[in-house]
Amino acid sequence: MDKILVIGSINKDFTINVDKAPLEGETITSSASSYSLGGKGANQAVALARLEAQVDFIGKIGEDNNGYEAIESIQNDGVNMPVILKSQTKDTGIAVIILEKNGKNRIIVNQGVNLNFNDEDFEIVKKLVDNYDYFLIQLEINVEFIKKLINYLHSKKKFIVLNPAPAYHLEDEILKKINLVIPNEHELAILTNSPNPKNLDELKVLLKQKALELKNKWIVTLGEVGSIYMDETNELFCPSLQVEVVDTTAAGDTYIAAFLKKYLESKDILGAMQFATKASAVTISRKGAQESLPYLKEIV
Ligand code: RIB
Repeated sequence: MDKILVIGSINKDFTINVDKAPLEGETITSSASSYSLGGKGANQAVALARLEAQVDFIGKIGEDNNGYEAIESIQNDGVNMPVILKSQTKDTGIAVIILEKNGKNRIIVNQGVNLNFNDEDFEIVKKLVDNYDYFLIQLEINVEFIKKLINYLHSKKKFIVLNPAPAYHLEDEILKKINLVIPNEHELAILTNSPNPKNLDELKVLLKQKALELKNKWIVTLGEVGSIYMDETNELFCPSLQVEVVDTTAAGDTYIAAFLKKYLESKDILGAMQFATKASAVTISRKGAQESLPYLKEIV
């Protein structure tokens, strides 16, 4: 089986449940709140492990309770961490999630030590690269580190999957080194410095243009609408499943992990999109980030 290395963020999530997110200057009350483990990198690694993919993970923590708790839980989920990066001067990342009763959220991340991947860490990661074929990265750790990593992985002819979240603009020089890019529609616009597509047709035009220019594969996740795949010659669409929405947190992380697991197994793109759609439907039917990620046996 192909081995995947995820390199990315670890966060402690604090979710506060509200009927409706507050407007500017407004104070509102909340019906409930809870803590869970999150971070896009850690979520995607745990999702891959629960789907029984061969996955290792590299993340960075502050030497604090949140960091140690996260590491223990990630490892208990069957994710191997070949190295645990630590900092004595920065705290583990924190995310505040405002969760509306319709299941939609707004997330604010204090990246903390996730922004502190340094040259020393890069040298450590470089030594491990040859052990893996596939690399999954996001943009929740410092982008300069990510760019350096992409350049290095590309020079080693590795298969790179990028989830460009949180949204950030990357120049084409970097984007063309990525084999598969998986943004949502908002991240796509910022990533490519393009106006927000007004409808599916505009989005397809933008995607086709990028796939042709950069000669790579793209999947855009479109929430309750579905997901769309584009490369230089193919276009595919997979509609979402209608399920009761409890909490959309980590739905994107689940989709990406599940797509990659199935795609590596079968090389069937539409089949992998359908599998990923089913997996993320499970995630949104329950609350929290890491605790909501599905196991393989739950995806039928
Ligand atoms: O994708 C969901 C994640 O985004 C949350 O777990 C939170 O930590 C933020 O990073």
